[in-house]
Amino acid sequence: MADDENLFGELPVQLTPQPILEYGLGRVWTQHKAVLIAKYIYLFTIITRHGAYIDGFAAPKEDLSAGSWAAKAVAETEPRRLRELFFCELKPKRAALIDEMIAEQPDREKRHYEVLQGDFNVRVHDILGSGLIRPKTATFCLIDQFSIECHWSTLQALADYKPAGERKIELFYFLATGWLGRTLDAQKRNLDRPALWWGDEGWQNLIGVNGDKVAIRMCQRFRDELGYRFVKPYPIWERDKGKGRVMFHMIHASDHPAAHGLMQRAHRNVTQAPETHEQLVMDLQHIEP
Ligand SMILES: C[S@@+](CC[C@H](N)C(=O)[O-])C[C@H]1O[C@@H](n2cnc3c(N)ncnc32)[C@H](O)[C@@H]1O
Repeated sequence: MADDENLFGELPVQLTPQPILEYGLGRVWTQHKAVLIAKYIYLFTIITRHGAYIDGFAAPKEDLSAGSWAAKAVAETEPRRLRELFFCELKPKRAALIDEMIAEQPDREKRHYEVLQGDFNVRVHDILGSGLIRPKTATFCLIDQFSIECHWSTLQALADYKPAGERKIELFYFLATGWLGRTLDAQKRNLDRPALWWGDEGWQNLIGVNGDKVAIRMCQRFRDELGYRFVKPYPIWERDKGKGRVMFHMIHASDHPAAHGLMQRAHRNVTQAPETHEQLVMDLQHIEP
């Protein structure tokens, strides 16, 4: 080994944050979101062979039509490698829909399914305090809020939960860029709400800012303040004969180097011909969990 290589070999490895400004995905339609999430979980668990799923805003938004409800699509993803599934929902009647969905699952005795009715900003602490998510449990958390319901402190609790050196809980976070300006503008008599969402008064600087820029700003905060190494904004389009607008962004934050590659793969699988399970296992099984 040359002398200079030896010298650098002694230095600690620096895990640098990665650039944010690479979208990497083709168009994702709003209708595809739940399938995209389920497909990502499928790929994620090929690598990890286990996992926990937290869905903070879990009841179905509209009807229960097949494929458009993330919680159901994830619970029913085969092979059923997730071991712990937590679903939180504010409204009791909507939470009952999740109970019904779980009652139909053939493995409800084998997995830990839990429905937590209440405010996710409060109930997140019950999930994290349950002891069921261990330092080595690969965990994915979906935050599919309407607009600004998820507090910044909730993201901090999720991001800080794992001990240093373990992989953080992955986040897939809904950012209502399509109507955020209007939502924030309408909060003039309720200033606490946006402040809880953003974490401080900085939300006032977002009014009138273009959605892509807000998404980048949020990604920077996920990277710089929450400490995620790989953060990307995925614009999700309205279905409109190929001409729709961006309705919202999903922000994916992980510290696993394979995470964004998997998301791209999930996207290809959702929008084009899917790869076979055998092909995927062959390609992914060598990646370290
Ligand atoms: C956009 S919908 C979720 C859509 C769902 N993920 C799907 O795939 O169809 C948001 C849900 O969060 C619930 N919700 C609103 N505020 C909440 C809060 N603070 N904590 C937990 N759930 C909340 C709403 O009642 C609604 O059912």
